[in-house]
Amino acid sequence: MLKKKFSCVKVNQQKDGVTWVIFNRPEKRNAMSPTFHAEMMEIMTALETDPDTKLVIITGEGTAYSAGQDLKEYFRETDGNPAAKAAASANSRWRNEKLWMYNKPTISMVNGFCIGGAFTHCLCADFSIAANEAVFSLSEVNWGILPGGMVSKLVSDAFRPRDAMFYACTGRTFTGKEAAAMGMVNLSVPKKNLRRETLKLAKELLEKNPNVLRGTKHAIRATQDMTWRAAADYLNAKGAEIKQRDQARGHDAYAEGIRQFIDEKAYRPVFSPYVGAADGKTTEKGGKPRASAARKKKAPARKKK
Ligand code: ACO
Repeated sequence: MLKKKFSCVKVNQQKDGVTWVIFNRPEKRNAMSPTFHAEMMEIMTALETDPDTKLVIITGEGTAYSAGQDLKEYFRETDGNPAAKAAASANSRWRNEKLWMYNKPTISMVNGFCIGGAFTHCLCADFSIAANEAVFSLSEVNWGILPGGMVSKLVSDAFRPRDAMFYACTGRTFTGKEAAAMGMVNLSVPKKNLRRETLKLAKELLEKNPNVLRGTKHAIRATQDMTWRAAADYLNAKGAEIKQRDQARGHDAYAEGIRQFIDEKAYRPVFSPYVGAADGKTTEKGGKPRASAARKKKAPARKKK
């Protein structure tokens, strides 16, 4: 449990393992100052090994998700102070290097303005859900820089090429709905449903085997820029790592998942994870299909022949 209080960020931890990280400079539209970045680096580092945190949702307080880098504090006030600039830049890597291969699932919940440098953490979180009403803009071109901080790279990887060029070079705004159509976010929903839909996704992810989920998200990230051969080796090694991590908690997802489907007929993998995936508890060998597994999804429990 993270007990420390921060000046630019709030951390709310739910009992089920969901931890909310809420940018808390609403009066500055959650613009990212050097202090903000230092706090975010500390928080994200701590949560990665916090036993009470199984999944992180990042979002903003007020009308903005984040108005990007703080033009005054992050840029102008560090000009002429290379040490301060370097420290701010190093701490701002929570958004890309840290989030990209984070050891726990992350969701960015885009509640309002998402501008410039905020694209980085929106795109580096594993999942993103926006309010239909959210406003996105690559405003850099309008005030004098190119989209740095890996934004150009992330945008050109995520968007269709013509959309990437168009929005980077015009700075035009687009909505959460348009962001979903372009692949910037997974989905957009009316703002009144944003929290509910985000928690629905979080709950779904928390029901998975955490080691399998971690390995899967790393595999999707890491293989993006690998050769075919390297990807094959990486995936073999990653599969072995999952087994090893599961063994450390006295579990074997692979064997358990197959056993519950083939022998116990306790679940169907197409509709739900196997029973006990999240907590690593196995069912009795040859035991009855669990009522909870059958109830959970629309699919009926499977019958033994
Ligand atoms: N940096 C520093 N201060 C900011 C930023 C920012 N990125 N964004 C907003 N603020 C401050 C404003 O200066 C203002 O402060 P003040 O009350 O002390 O005058 C306060 O937040 C509110 O801003 P408004 O413009 O009044 O808020 P409004 O809701 O009307 O507009 C909007 C919000 C559209 C986000 C607007 O503030 C804006 O265009 N901000 C700049 C966004 C931007 O270009 N960010 C940089 C992206 S590039 C990068 O990150 C590398």
